[in-house]
Amino acid sequence: MLFGHELAWKEQDIYDEIYENSIQNFNEFWAFHSKDIAFSRQPSSIFDKATGKWLSGAAGNICYNCVDKHAIATPKKPAIIWHGDLPGERELVTYSELLNKICSISSILRLSGIKKGDVVAIYMPMVPDAIAAMLACARIGAIHLTIFAGFSPSALAYRIEMSNAKILLTYKKASRSGKTIDLLGNCQKALSEIKGKTPKILVLDDEDIYLNVSINRDVVECDSDDNLFILYTSGSSGKPKGIIHSGLPFLLYAATTFKFIFDAKSDDVYFCTSDIGWITGHSYIAYAPLFQGLSIVIFEGNPTYPSPDRYWDIIENESVTLFYTSPTALRTLQAFDENYIKSRDLSSLRILGSVGEPIDEKTWNWFFEAVGKRRCPIVDTWWQTETGGIILAPLLDLKRQKPCVVGKPFFGIAPKIIDAKDEFSLGRLTITNKWPGMCSSILYECPEDIGACVNIFNKNYLKDGLFLTGDGAFYDTDFDIKVTGRLDDVLNISGHRLSSAEFEDAINKVRGVKECAIVPVAHEIKGQAAFAYVVKSDNVSDEELRNEIASALRSGIGPIARPDFIAFVHDLPKTRSGKILRYLLKDIAANKQCTIKDLSSLCNKESIDNIMAETRRCLNGI
Ligand code: WT7
Repeated sequence: MLFGHELAWKEQDIYDEIYENSIQNFNEFWAFHSKDIAFSRQPSSIFDKATGKWLSGAAGNICYNCVDKHAIATPKKPAIIWHGDLPGERELVTYSELLNKICSISSILRLSGIKKGDVVAIYMPMVPDAIAAMLACARIGAIHLTIFAGFSPSALAYRIEMSNAKILLTYKKASRSGKTIDLLGNCQKALSEIKGKTPKILVLDDEDIYLNVSINRDVVECDSDDNLFILYTSGSSGKPKGIIHSGLPFLLYAATTFKFIFDAKSDDVYFCTSDIGWITGHSYIAYAPLFQGLSIVIFEGNPTYPSPDRYWDIIENESVTLFYTSPTALRTLQAFDENYIKSRDLSSLRILGSVGEPIDEKTWNWFFEAVGKRRCPIVDTWWQTETGGIILAPLLDLKRQKPCVVGKPFFGIAPKIIDAKDEFSLGRLTITNKWPGMCSSILYECPEDIGACVNIFNKNYLKDGLFLTGDGAFYDTDFDIKVTGRLDDVLNISGHRLSSAEFEDAINKVRGVKECAIVPVAHEIKGQAAFAYVVKSDNVSDEELRNEIASALRSGIGPIARPDFIAFVHDLPKTRSGKILRYLLKDIAANKQCTIKDLSSLCNKESIDNIMAETRRCLNGI
């Protein structure tokens, strides 16, 4: 059958034919691939237009599909190979051992009273237990909420409170670059900030919690619209919002995209450098690769500690075939002596992937040449927490490799670039139809009021039935798509998605700050850095206020929110109605000349000279 064609993501002609077919026969395409999933009850429909539901009537269990299946068929096969902060720290977990870990954790959760639909927060480092914890939730129908272990106690508290998590799973500590992070301490601090009911903390690296637990191996049957997880991400306004994904449709999308775009085969060794705190760590670490029965390599440390060859060492020693990483990591690594990479045997590599932000041409070329030795196609995959899986990616055709192009829509996806001047100009990337990986709902400061959440979702994402991605994009002359990054007030710092509103909230709380505005500026390694414009209310010293602001951001969001530039200005550029004109500040920070047209909505023109002078001082480090 054509829908499963071996060369579907490899040859343009075959891709074109299947793509057309998948759009015309949308239900048939997804029905074909849904057969990969072991359902306990078959779906009665694939996509129901009237209700917007996927796989109606179906039931099954995600954990069974990702682990039990393989623990029965290939129990001794490595499921997870962990590498720790220091070279030589390694643990291999087979599929049968992974199942045991999962069942221990799910039994403890059951004993703690967790039932189907309850939320379990996970604040853990990149260790096999973290993935086991996610799958343990899936096994009993609980909803997991992972929180990146680099987030501060306040950021952790916010997410726990908003989602009503009943249990918080953690480790005593994590190691990063030789330093110890006190995760349990952070959890306790977070709980002390929560006003209402607090979750119980379970420490998974404490042997005692496993004592006297009788292991229950049952799986809970879940319907296709039962939710699998919540994951917080930043939007263009206000607080982070919880993106909710339902289980079986999400798995169908993650697994099908992975199978085609990474050409995943069961004997592949797959190394993804993301973290379970982000969506990549869900779709393409915990779920799709295990579903396909691959061996996955995870890494808890820092790619440059203690030396900048950690990735190359892991690829060589584990004979990694598929390597999925981020532009920010690659930009960091290409700055080091080429011998770190030249001295390693990377010949096992077959396909390279990039995700998280636009990759620049220099970095793409280095990835292609130094890492892939011109042998491995690069898939620059574009997607979002909301989309659940890859939406755009180039074909796996070595002859047609082009830097920095995210390429083609996945099967069944119909993107549209709106508001562009002509066919090849920059416009807003939208998606005109539905796909199974699309999030089911969002949580936004209203966990009890689902109606309000639906309204916020519609307001934020939908316009005339189009899904608005927030990114700018254009077509090149081969009709391949190029994505330029966010067009809204979202910053992408080292692949971490943060909104200017979150920064501003934290800074505005500092005594001595009257108001502020945050804009992104280009940064050589991080992609973007945060530039803060601050108006003082009191006569505090610049130095003092700078320190206060940095510490407010560290405690409000986490170390990732360190502002690179803080300029103290007399006034912010505003419209007559008092709206801050961030795009003007963005242009000024980028050293672009503001045109007269740009200034037309500005009411306090006199603010500009001072802002320009302070920007220059800041960028020049004086
Ligand atoms: C935003 C989504 C997708 C998993 C990790 C990030 C940017 C992501 C690319 C790419 C250009 C990209 C977009 C998007 N982005 N991948 N290949 N090229 N931009 O998920 O945290 O939800 O962030 O990341 O701006 O909107 P996320």
